[in-house]
Amino acid sequence: MNIANTKLDLEYVRSQFPAFSDPMCKDWSFFENAGGSYVPLQVIDKLNEFMTSTKVQPYAEYPMSKIAGDNMDKATDFFANMINAKNKEIIIGGSTSINLYVLSNALKYSLQPGDEVIVTNQDHEANISPWRRLEEVGAIIKEWKINPDTAELEIKSLENLITKKTKIVAVTHCSNIVGSVNDLKKVSELAHKQNAIVIGDGVSYAPHGFPDVKELGVDFYTFSLYKTYGPHLALLYGKEDILKNLPNQNHQFLDGSYPYTINPGGPNHEELVSLIGIYEYMMNLYSHHFNDDNLSIREKINKVNNLISIHEEEIANPLLDFINSEKNLKLIGKNKIVNKNRAPTISFISNHKTSKEVSKILVADKIATRNDNFYAWRCLKALGIDTDDGLVRLSLTHYNSKEDTNLAIKAIGKL
Ligand SMILES: Cc1ncc(COP(=O)(O)O)c(C=O)c1O
Repeated sequence: MNIANTKLDLEYVRSQFPAFSDPMCKDWSFFENAGGSYVPLQVIDKLNEFMTSTKVQPYAEYPMSKIAGDNMDKATDFFANMINAKNKEIIIGGSTSINLYVLSNALKYSLQPGDEVIVTNQDHEANISPWRRLEEVGAIIKEWKINPDTAELEIKSLENLITKKTKIVAVTHCSNIVGSVNDLKKVSELAHKQNAIVIGDGVSYAPHGFPDVKELGVDFYTFSLYKTYGPHLALLYGKEDILKNLPNQNHQFLDGSYPYTINPGGPNHEELVSLIGIYEYMMNLYSHHFNDDNLSIREKINKVNNLISIHEEEIANPLLDFINSEKNLKLIGKNKIVNKNRAPTISFISNHKTSKEVSKILVADKIATRNDNFYAWRCLKALGIDTDDGLVRLSLTHYNSKEDTNLAIKAIGKL
């Protein structure tokens, strides 16, 4: 039934995810979403269908093969529409780490010794080390550092770093530790004034609402589909004008057939097709809450994004407030989500216990979490946090409930 409703219907949402009724998962409050999310029925169904009927080499003329190929194209088209890109601008690879590694190999040919590359110390290493490696071709690496008191990246510091020699700025849209949403639109404006390109890491942003890449203005943008309710794949968007001129990283006879030039080995077929399930889940969310069917896919995504943000704010703010008010805990990042300035990715350390001890205590209360540095190794170093013990991260997403929040607060209270 269509209900013109402005509040996320959580019962409906949770009914779409089999994990919530699975005997092993159902009693747990799941707070590891920034590590990898549960998947909705639609994704599982598409994967099953592919494996049952069309698990053959795609793009031949017999029906099983033709349908397999058509569905692979459809999955790419849907994702292009959801993030406001063209299908030739979408690369589906094995992970964000590998996508960025291949991209940096392709971009290195456009650099001259002395060109400058800006990386941050807030990012996950996946968006740092491929760019730091460009030192090998003579690039000068500059680090956009967080303010150690707030853990935030400040635009002023970037303004001081960018010069006419800057060619690449690699920065996260949202930190997987601090949770802050960085202003990629502003970063892109500053970089483009110097003819530099921007590589945005959206891995911790996209699970909370698929972005409009054109509005962000970035040149490349990446996120991991296994954190946006899908299988273990990752999407890389690249502006067509840049992508089509990048040197081929694939077989030599594929030269010119972008975006495959930046996707050696190609995508995993069955998992690619299962991405149609993410699209269907998003569209079902839309039609469950809204009536107007004449909107574009992107417009529908915008409306779903708003529903999700309101719900996430509601469930994350009490937890942020509680952790922030506990004298023995140190919360990393902002203590309140206001207008999507922060994701519900909540990291903290204890003054008395190791993060390992804290996570064990929470796990004993069926709070699914862990302690780690989450590969944001440089961010932890900059904050003076032990990179082996790391911090404890409670990462929520739109299918978490107020009950999850209350259970987490109760469990943390025992510390
Ligand atoms: C912010 C961020 N960027 C990049 C990555 C790397 O993604 P992948 O596991 O797809 O290589 C992660 C993974 O946790 C992440 O959280």
